[in-house]
Amino acid sequence: MVIPLRSQLPWKVFSMRVLSGIQPTGRFHLGNYFGAIRQYIALQNNEQAFYFIADLHALTTVRNPAELQENVQNAALDLLALGLNPNQAALFRQSDIPEVTELTWLLMTVTQMSLLEKCHAYKDKIAKGLAADAGLFTYPVLMAADILAYDSNTVPVGLDQVQHLEVTRDLALRFNHIYQQEVFVLPEAHVIDASAKVPGTDGEKMSKSYGNTIDIFEPPKQLRKKFMSIKTDSIPVEGAKDPERDSIFLLYQLFATDAEQSELAARYRAGGMGYGDAKQILYEKAMNYFSAARERRMQLEARPDDVEDVLRAGAAKARTKAREVLSRARNACGLNPRHAGEL
Ligand code: TRP
Repeated sequence: MVIPLRSQLPWKVFSMRVLSGIQPTGRFHLGNYFGAIRQYIALQNNEQAFYFIADLHALTTVRNPAELQENVQNAALDLLALGLNPNQAALFRQSDIPEVTELTWLLMTVTQMSLLEKCHAYKDKIAKGLAADAGLFTYPVLMAADILAYDSNTVPVGLDQVQHLEVTRDLALRFNHIYQQEVFVLPEAHVIDASAKVPGTDGEKMSKSYGNTIDIFEPPKQLRKKFMSIKTDSIPVEGAKDPERDSIFLLYQLFATDAEQSELAARYRAGGMGYGDAKQILYEKAMNYFSAARERRMQLEARPDDVEDVLRAGAAKARTKAREVLSRARNACGLNPRHAGEL
């Protein structure tokens, strides 16, 4: 048999579903953007993409309702402003798909405690002597439901989430095996390139837990202040400086073309340029880089109803798929395949 090339078949036959969830635990910073968001958005061009705001997962850490709502709204605005195109990718709130929480229970019944005891979010907390609640313990099962509910093929995630993908595959296989049916599609992790070094204001990796972040959409004055506070060595203005060892330059590399990078590197090495000047150059570059996104964000902020419409349309699309999968799962384990929402 001759297997036709992918290009000779209608693309739908091979259409892959890409899915990922982003936790709304605060404003997105440059580390989130260059390390993940930029890459998620790029994937919308080739495949069918589902992206959701993981508000149910955020409940394990955010316990203030006003803060959670604000975070969810900001996450939607940020993602849309940064180029997530709702005509190409479905964007929705995790909690708008009740099928996912129902599926979590079905998966929970085939989840071994020992599997969850190995998971790092829970393990790390216990290792610190802190008490964990069942939400944190079963966090990976909810994540598995997120993924399996949409027959997702590819899940772009950071390295820290690969373990959760393994749990997801494990649960899918176990469920399929127990009920002797191909209920769930086995997803693959697509580990995103995290090689972009994004230092925070103190020179350590930019991370919320270090308190060294620079947010993408900080008001210009505040943004400038953050850049001005970046820690440097104490080489005086006249001295030659090593760009590769300076956080300002590392950040500049994320925004600038190769030619611009060489030009600034040469100024570092020549001496005569102080770190204050480099910070100003970086600030202007960053403002320029995100200027279209800032503009878009302002327009979106003025139209909250439109943003809500985007989230609802995304949820409707996601729910259609989730119902189909949940129905398969309910049927496999002997429950009425027509779940409550359809009665
Ligand atoms: N746990 C993920 C994180 O903290 C977020 C997430 C929730 C997710 N559900 C998901 C990611 C499903 C990918 C797929 O980053």
